[in-house]
This record gives sequence, C-alpha cells and structure tokens, in this order.
Amino acid sequence: MGSRVGVMGAGYVGLTSAACLAHLGHHVVCVDNDVAKVEQLCAGTVSIVEPRLPELVREGLAEHRLGFTADPTALRECEVVLLCLPTPMSPDGTADLSVLEQALHTLSTILSPDCVLVTKSTVPVGTAARIPAMSGSAGLTVVSNPEFLREGHAVEDFLRPDRIVVGAEPPDRDAADRVAALYAETGAPVLRSDPASAELAKYASNAFLAVKLSFVNTMAELCEQVGADIGTVTTAMGMDDRIGPAFLAPGPGWGGSCLPKDTRALLRTAEAAGVDFALVRDALRANDHQHALVMRKIRRAVTGAVDGSLSGSRIGVLGLAFKAGTGDLRESPAVAVARQLCRHDATVTAYDPCVPESDCPDLGIRVVDDPYLAAKDADALVILTEWPEFRSLDWPKLETCVDQPVIVDTRNLLDDRVLTGTGFTLLGTGTAR
Ligand code: UDX
Repeated sequence: MGSRVGVMGAGYVGLTSAACLAHLGHHVVCVDNDVAKVEQLCAGTVSIVEPRLPELVREGLAEHRLGFTADPTALRECEVVLLCLPTPMSPDGTADLSVLEQALHTLSTILSPDCVLVTKSTVPVGTAARIPAMSGSAGLTVVSNPEFLREGHAVEDFLRPDRIVVGAEPPDRDAADRVAALYAETGAPVLRSDPASAELAKYASNAFLAVKLSFVNTMAELCEQVGADIGTVTTAMGMDDRIGPAFLAPGPGWGGSCLPKDTRALLRTAEAAGVDFALVRDALRANDHQHALVMRKIRRAVTGAVDGSLSGSRIGVLGLAFKAGTGDLRESPAVAVARQLCRHDATVTAYDPCVPESDCPDLGIRVVDDPYLAAKDADALVILTEWPEFRSLDWPKLETCVDQPVIVDTRNLLDDRVLTGTGFTLLGTGTAR
C-alpha cells in the first residue's frame, strides 16, 4: 500500500519525483502555480527533455496514481509533502528562499497536523531547522531528503539511486521512517542523519565533483605544457579504486543548473561559518580560467598565435548545451565561450541538436539547425558539447564547407580515425596536439 504524497513544484526535480513516486506505487498529487503547465501535464504533455519522464507521467495519469493541480488545498490529505521549489542564486551567491517562504505560508493553513514536510530540492544548511518558524507553524515536522538527480538521467537516478539520505531530528524518527519508506521499492541504501548533515551532503557532493573536474581540467593544461596525454593520465587515475573512472573527462569547464550554483552557495556557507574553503574557491576560479584557455586555443587555431585577434573571423560552434543529452543552457561553458567570441568581434554560427534559435535570443550569435551550415566559411570549428552524433558527421563534407580546416575539440570527442582522409588539423584538450 503506497503513501499519499504531495509534491510542491512541477519543475525538473518535482516532476521527476512525482512521476517516479507514482511509478513506485504511491498516490501522488503535484501542485504548481503555473496553470498552463498544470493543464499540459494533466493532458500528459511534458515539456522537459528527460528520458522516460513523459512515459511515467502518462502511466501515472492512466493508473490514477498521479494528478496535477494549481490548487494547493489538494495537499490537505497528504501524509508527506515534498518541497521541490526553485532556490535560485542571489547576486551575492546565497540561495534565494523567497519562493519557498511564500509556499510555506500557503501550506501552513492547509497541511494536516501529522503531515511530514520534506525539503527535496537543494536548500542552504539550516533550512529544515528554520522552516517551522518560517511557516509560522512551530509544530511542523520537517525532514531533509536531498535529490542527487543528473539531467538526462533523472528518472534512472531516482529509481536506482546510489543512496537515499534522510535527515531528521531524533524525536522525528517516525517521520524519517515514513520518508525512507517512500523509496523502499528502490532497494537503495538509506543513510539516516540529522537535517544539517543531509543538507550539507548535497552541497559536499556537488562541490567535490566540481573540484574533481577543475583538477582534471588544470591537469589537462599541464599535459599540454609537458607533452603528456590527459586521456592516459585519467585512465591511470581512474583504475585506482579510491579515485574511480567517473567524472574525469576534461572539457571547456563545468556548468549546468546545479554545480556552479551549489559550489558558490557552499563557499558562502563556509564564509559565514568562518571557514576558508580555498579549495572550492580555486575550483571556481579554475573554471573561469578554463573558458580563457579555450579562447586562447581558438585564437591559435584561427591566427596561429594564442594572442592573435579574432576580429572579423568566423567561428562555427558545435554544441551549446552545458552537456550532451540536454538542451539546457544554464551556466553552459559553451555559452560563456560563445559570448567571449562575440565580445572579440568574431561572427559565431552555432549548431546544437537540442537547442533551437528561439532559446538564444540574447546571445548575439546565429543558431542554425544544420551542422554543415554552422561550418560554412568558418575559420575554425569548435566542439563545446560532447554530443556523440558529432563523431559521425560527414567530416569530408564539413571540410568542403569551412574556410580553414581546423577543429578545436574541447571535449576530446574526435580522434584521428574520425578525421581519416580529411585535411583537418585537430587541436584537442590536454594532448600534445
Ligand atoms: C549535477 C550532479 O551530478 C547531480 O548529482 C546533481 O544533483 C545536479 O548537478 P547535472 O547538472 O545534470 O548534475 O550535470 P553533470 O552530469 O553532473 O555535469 C556537470 C558538468 O560537468 C557539465 O557541464 C558536464 O559537461 C561537466 N563534466 C562532467 C565534465 O566536464 N567532465 C566529466 O567527466 C563529467
């Protein structure tokens, strides 16, 4: 017998949680104040690009285990309500909790007294403890249960998680049991903790991944200087069980809606607590530096000199999304590089299989729906997102499109085999080339 679950927010985290919990056998009602979105979802239309999500939404609707509404009073009967609301970054790097605060005001008059409120989307350390006061209901039971969902793998990550973290105060053991029980079907290990540790675990995981990536990117820079190969170096590192092979691919910098935001927020938390987390600060700095390095390489590709002028040059960009498998442009390193190219008076034409021109109105670049058009008359091609399909482009045809056959491959997606028979020069990342 499943639980009656409410989900506040039908964004990426909320919708994935709602659809997956319904799939796991719970009865879920998902509330969002965007009436148009609710209507679409009720009709089974999902606008987020996420594998299996539309199928699970339609399955939940068809089996009457999943419903959508703009009316928060629908949460009255729920035993557990997950808060999946946006906590965007304020200009000073702290999380903006105004949406959460507003929702808590609404919920305080609706929720039944024994309902467990769960913070699911990422919130600053200490939020679970502050929520009863924020909502004006001192008796409210709040449990922290952070999500660790990757875009493009969110459903899989929800249904087959590495771990479930449930943070509750000792007297709220029953509430923690109720939250842990939501995931019983997944068979995942459950880590019980206090709320602050659960909240910090999310920031710690993302900041650690950011540090790992900045380490690899700087190591790639070093490889170029000393004539070593980053692929070999990271393969050797990854064969050490203590390090592991994941998250060791160099690139133009790390981005997305979480890693940069959470890393900056962790720094602010550390600062406020009087802790100098220099390692995390340097990881962020190294990430900005990574964009500058890509620019140097593009200059070298176009002019032959790392400080040559790009003014008047034409650059064909392949990939705009922050990673493959998504059309998300938030904090995309590809967008950062495209902006810098424009600032240096280059003309940029970009192609991304998941990004239409309408998604980039203020970017100052031309976005086309054909990679060969992006390459037309280009002085250099730059690969910024690791879409696997770029490997199987017709590279001999691309060579006939460009002005100068040179590729800056920031993701090391291509190898010499792909380019066999063409006259392209390939400038990889962290290789002696
Ligand atoms: C991340 C976390 O992985 C997830 O657990 C969290 O809950 C949300 O944030 P996501 O934002 O979907 O997920 O992106 P992720 O797959 O982690 O990639 C982040 C960035 O790192 C991307 O820009 C990606 O291209 C880059 N990356 C990743 C690399 O450059 N090299 C790698 O080896 C892996």
